[in-house]
Amino acid sequence: MAHLPPLRRLLKFFHPEAIPKLGTPLYNLVSKTVIFQQNYDLLAHDILSYGNQGNFLDVGTGPGWLLIKLYEQSPTLHVYGIDISASMVMKATAHVEKAGLSGVVEVREGEVCTIPYSDAFFDIVVSTGSIHHWKEPTRALNEIYRVLKDGGYALLYDVVSDTPRSVLKEAARDFGRLRIVLLWMHAFEEPFYSREALELLPETSLFSKGSTRFAGVLCCLIMRKKPQNG
Ligand SMILES: C[S@@+](CC[C@H](N)C(=O)[O-])C[C@H]1O[C@@H](n2cnc3c(N)ncnc32)[C@H](O)[C@@H]1O
Repeated sequence: MAHLPPLRRLLKFFHPEAIPKLGTPLYNLVSKTVIFQQNYDLLAHDILSYGNQGNFLDVGTGPGWLLIKLYEQSPTLHVYGIDISASMVMKATAHVEKAGLSGVVEVREGEVCTIPYSDAFFDIVVSTGSIHHWKEPTRALNEIYRVLKDGGYALLYDVVSDTPRSVLKEAARDFGRLRIVLLWMHAFEEPFYSREALELLPETSLFSKGSTRFAGVLCCLIMRKKPQNG
């Protein structure tokens, strides 16, 4: 919160943490569009460049598409997803079932500040489009730190309020100008962080530092739990 300008702080105050029950079917519909599905593919590919074995957690998994894409791209993974919203968990569970992955992909209701898994259980923790919803980001990062193995990565992707023109132009080539203008407009009505604010978040957490880069139109905050002898 400390790194948000006053207007974004106000937006954050009123912005619901969980997607409300009525918003779930709408988000679910939007998430099935080509632009979203291509983006989940791109993100899964990006995530797997940090490691492709072990236990992966997606926090705020929403309809759960990223879980399915991760498993499809790397079927030896153990993939887990949590979401604070019970209606989203129902959607994700249905999608996982339909993909025939019920036995290998686990979805549960859960909150980022109290992740329902034991210490050092995950090799990689990811999240897409969720961090701007979190009311206590430092507590959230510390909890992600707790469940990561030594040397494990946290990769938190989100829209930022100051996406560079060059990134928007490239995305417009791939997805069409209209969609990218809509995304740009969307950045004004939700409490997204700026790239700098996102990069400063880990400073008050156990990670103590992080870096950012763009993967498609999303900015990725990259943090690593210190390797045991590093
Ligand atoms: C915009 S949706 C993104 C869903 C999905 N990751 C995607 O990329 O399609 C944000 C999700 O984060 C979830 N969420 C928000 N705050 C959360 C929290 N504190 N703990 C866990 N999930 C949370 C919401 O319920 C919602 O499903």
